[in-house]
Amino acid sequence: MQRPNKRLAGQTAIVTGANSGIGEAVAEALGRDGANVVVNYVIHPEAAEEIVDRINKSDISGSAIAIKCDVSKEDQVIAMFKQTIDKFGTVDICVPNAGLQKDSPLHQMSLADWQLVIDINLTGQFLCVREAIKEFLKRGMRPEVSRSLGKIIHMSSVHQVIPWAGHANYASSKGAIHMLMESICQGYGPHKIRCNSIAPGAIKTGINKAAWDTEEALDKLNKLIPYKRIGVPEDIGSAAAWLASDESEYINGTTIFVDGGMTCYPGFTENG
Ligand code: BGC
Repeated sequence: MQRPNKRLAGQTAIVTGANSGIGEAVAEALGRDGANVVVNYVIHPEAAEEIVDRINKSDISGSAIAIKCDVSKEDQVIAMFKQTIDKFGTVDICVPNAGLQKDSPLHQMSLADWQLVIDINLTGQFLCVREAIKEFLKRGMRPEVSRSLGKIIHMSSVHQVIPWAGHANYASSKGAIHMLMESICQGYGPHKIRCNSIAPGAIKTGINKAAWDTEEALDKLNKLIPYKRIGVPEDIGSAAAWLASDESEYINGTTIFVDGGMTCYPGFTENG
């Protein structure tokens, strides 16, 4: 459990897909470090409200509100940013995290499943960071809260580099996020906007339940993880809070892999 730290006090964060899993842990970690947090959701408002309550009840955290928005819809994303700015004054930290999988072998993949994954995982991140960058540029520096104009933390995946047969739509969306993140870093670094990605490995959430909910599945999964444990959402929350803070100020245009070493291809330990 991350220790409380006031390093994000006075700042406001939007975390998309924050009513479960990784997004929930990121929202809580940013809140615990003092940020005001928008807990975005599209279904299960009760889960979002519960997280908001938890953040608001904590005497160390900033304030939280839940906002419903489908990140793949331009008008809804614009409205979410407007509502956030009306409530908290500005946005300092944007964590486009909402994502899903619709898996199937490529030759059987429907156009609808391809499109849905690209719409949510990639276009959704584009729409959110575009609004965030507009707000950062319009607002100008706030040296009293941060040395950066704004911070963007894309939620990517180890599958931005590890090919994934049967999940080509998902892997393609994450590979594209990598170039989106670097292009933003290159273009907006001179404005003091910091843009990075977190690439989680196997984190115990609903998205990959089949990979951890039996002992056999977990054993098989652990073969892919040199550190020999599945990740937990808090592993990502603590990385995100640090990346959002000035402690990581000179980190820009980087992907931080939080994967127990999965990208070191343990299958090659005694092979190849
Ligand atoms: C996927 C999970 C998977 C993990 C490691 C993530 O991006 O969403 O389903 O377990 O990568 O393969």
